[in-house]
Amino acid sequence: MDPFGSSILIILLSAVFMSSSISLATSSSTSENFLSCVSTHSEPSNPISAVLYTPTNSSFSSIWHSTIQNLRFLSSRAHKPLFIITPTLNSHIQAAVICSRDNGLQIKVRSGGHDYEGLSYRSTVEFIIIDLRNLRSVTVDTAKRTAWIEAGATLGEVYYHIANKSNTLGFPAGLCPTVGVGGHFSGGGIGTLMRKYGLAADNVIDAYIVDVNGKIRHRKSMGEDLFWAIRGGGGGSFGIILSWKINLVPVPPTVTVFEVTRSLNQGATQLLNRWQYIANKFSEDLFVRAVSIVAGGATKAESTILVVFESLFLGSVNELLPLMQQSFPELGLQAQDCTEMSWINSTLYFAGYTNGESIDALLNRTLQPKAFYKGKSDFVTQPISITGFESIWKELIAGDSSPVIIMDPLGGRMNNISATATPFPHRAGNLYTIQYYMYWQAGVNATKDHLARTREIYNFMSPYVSNSPRGAYVNYKDLDLGRIEVRNTSYTEASVWGTKYFKNNFKRLAVVKNMVDPTNFFWDEQSIPPSK
Ligand SMILES: Cc1cc2nc3c(=O)[nH]c(=O)nc-3n(C[C@H](O)[C@H](O)[C@H](O)COP(=O)(O)OP(=O)(O)OC[C@H]3O[C@@H](n4cnc5c(N)ncnc54)[C@H](O)[C@@H]3O)c2cc1C
Ligand SMILES: *[C@@H]1O[C@H](CO)[C@@H](O)[C@H](O)[C@H]1NC(C)=O
Ligand SMILES: *[C@@H]1O[C@H](CO)[C@@H](O)[C@H](O)[C@H]1NC(C)=O
Ligand SMILES: *[C@@H]1O[C@H](CO)[C@@H](O)[C@H](O)[C@H]1NC(C)=O
Ligand SMILES: *[C@@H]1O[C@H](CO)[C@@H](O)[C@H](O)[C@H]1NC(C)=O
Ligand SMILES: *[C@@H]1O[C@H](CO)[C@@H](O)[C@H](O)[C@H]1NC(C)=O
Ligand SMILES: *[C@@H]1O[C@H](CO)[C@@H](O)[C@H](O)[C@H]1NC(C)=O
Ligand SMILES: *[C@@H]1O[C@H](CO)[C@@H](O)[C@H](O)[C@H]1NC(C)=O
Repeated sequence: MDPFGSSILIILLSAVFMSSSISLATSSSTSENFLSCVSTHSEPSNPISAVLYTPTNSSFSSIWHSTIQNLRFLSSRAHKPLFIITPTLNSHIQAAVICSRDNGLQIKVRSGGHDYEGLSYRSTVEFIIIDLRNLRSVTVDTAKRTAWIEAGATLGEVYYHIANKSNTLGFPAGLCPTVGVGGHFSGGGIGTLMRKYGLAADNVIDAYIVDVNGKIRHRKSMGEDLFWAIRGGGGGSFGIILSWKINLVPVPPTVTVFEVTRSLNQGATQLLNRWQYIANKFSEDLFVRAVSIVAGGATKAESTILVVFESLFLGSVNELLPLMQQSFPELGLQAQDCTEMSWINSTLYFAGYTNGESIDALLNRTLQPKAFYKGKSDFVTQPISITGFESIWKELIAGDSSPVIIMDPLGGRMNNISATATPFPHRAGNLYTIQYYMYWQAGVNATKDHLARTREIYNFMSPYVSNSPRGAYVNYKDLDLGRIEVRNTSYTEASVWGTKYFKNNFKRLAVVKNMVDPTNFFWDEQSIPPSK
């Protein structure tokens, strides 16, 4: 699934699964000690051995690779985890935490595997993977308008199970159905309903987590500080989320979607310039994102930029048309550009299923097509001028490759939630968020070249976006912003990227981390460091 959804382009990429990988030299005693530890900590009737894969197990590689969504990290040079555990019981996770700690092993938790930097399944030190694929039940209570979701569930599964019970309830989260709720809710979760209902994390009302001592806690027993931190502070820092309780939100039985594409000759620049002033002020029922792509011609001179306006409206075509005529007449939206459907069908539509696929497609956990990719993000607080866009287009067209630029409007409910209510700080004052999404096929120098080009565009964009700090969205994880290689990173070092993701909330995150995990057991290249 492409993260910009719907029917735009997409080159089919074939996954090249490489079989040989390097194992870190491990003392066999660490492995043995870990195995004997988990066996003493697991229930005899449900032994962990039934869900523990060693590298010699014939299923090991296919399980490891199955949700490596970014082909950049499917490399023969990747260090193998010592073990992969696919728990079927919470007690398996508790045992794994206790025994990893006792044996100095790093734990990587994987829900949907969409981490942009692959941090849920790769490492440079001795590690194990806890893959939550088997813990993914979704229990919907339509009377109370809530649901309990296990952390291994995907967004598609959540949407499917809500729609299975009601056609007037939905949930505000991301567009790609294979994204896991374990990582997604932990980092915020933006999507087509955010202008009306906020982030996924804004709608989480309880959670179960396994802490650093292997204890299970829920909202009451974890306390409000930790409950605050896990709703946007990013996955992998505070413990292992077992499940989330969410508030479901009302959606009308009929919604309307449209997609309108304009090239430079058709006034795309003026439309996009105008869009910046109004998309964040539209009725909260109306979400209109803009996606720019370079449409290559035979020569650079024939290349153009296409801007695609993609929209979800919580109402009928008859209500939408006058609204658009009033607030964005320049786009010239026509009834024939619009399609009415159920909200659940709109989740299929934004996932790129536009050929009448059944909603069962939402249950498919396999991302297709997989790509080599790199993402970066920005927040825009001042509209970019027409001349600004003209120089951006020139720069995008000039290169051998350029990222797709996805602009998601904020405003509405996003403005009404305070910047400190959750760790996600990019609220009032931000017009829209940008995602730069570069993808490519395998090639000798392709990765090096495309990474360099993505960084070049990011640098080029700096005059046009937020600064001091330049904002970034933690769910579009970007190790270019800074990284750590060892567990004992200092707060100061980490604040280089921490303040980009979290602004002033970074300090509170580090204090919470110090309260719940002072020895920094749950760590990765961009986790929150403990600080007093
Ligand atoms: C194709 C694609 C489309 C996307 N579309 C959107 C979108 O529309 N909106 C949006 O906001 N984002 C989007 N994202 C980004 C996505 O939200 C993040 O990558 C998210 O973190 C992925 O969650 P995951 O569980 O699939 O990933 P994982 O790789 O499994 O996990 C991500 C991080 O969270 C940690 N983690 C996972 N499970 C747990 C757990 N149970 N407890 C604690 N930590 C955990 C991992 O260790 C890792 O650090 C998209 C990404 C991709 C690849
Ligand atoms: C692989 O591991 C699983 C889970 O422990 C086990 O059930 C299975 O028998 C193992 N298969 C092989 C071939 O070792
Ligand atoms: C809900 O799911 C059940 C079981 O899969 C299925 O039989 C039923 O048709 C679904 N109902 C709706 C309204 O989708
Ligand atoms: C949803 O999509 C399915 C499959 O294409 C179709 O049969 C159904 O009529 C659609 N329902 C609505 C309300 O749009
Ligand atoms: C799930 O999606 C993948 C990728 O598109 C496809 O190959 C597979 O057949 C699908 N599985 C089912 C059960 O439809
Ligand atoms: C935001 O707050 C304003 C003023 O309190 C209110 O009128 C509006 O309905 C709120 N919007 C949302 C989406 O909560
Ligand atoms: C890859 O890059 C190297 C160094 O820049 C260059 O010498 C080589 O020709 C490139 N290979 C290909 C296939 O482009
Ligand atoms: C940090 O940890 C690494 C190993 O994890 C160790 O080699 C190094 O000495 C530590 N540094 C400090 C300052 O404690």
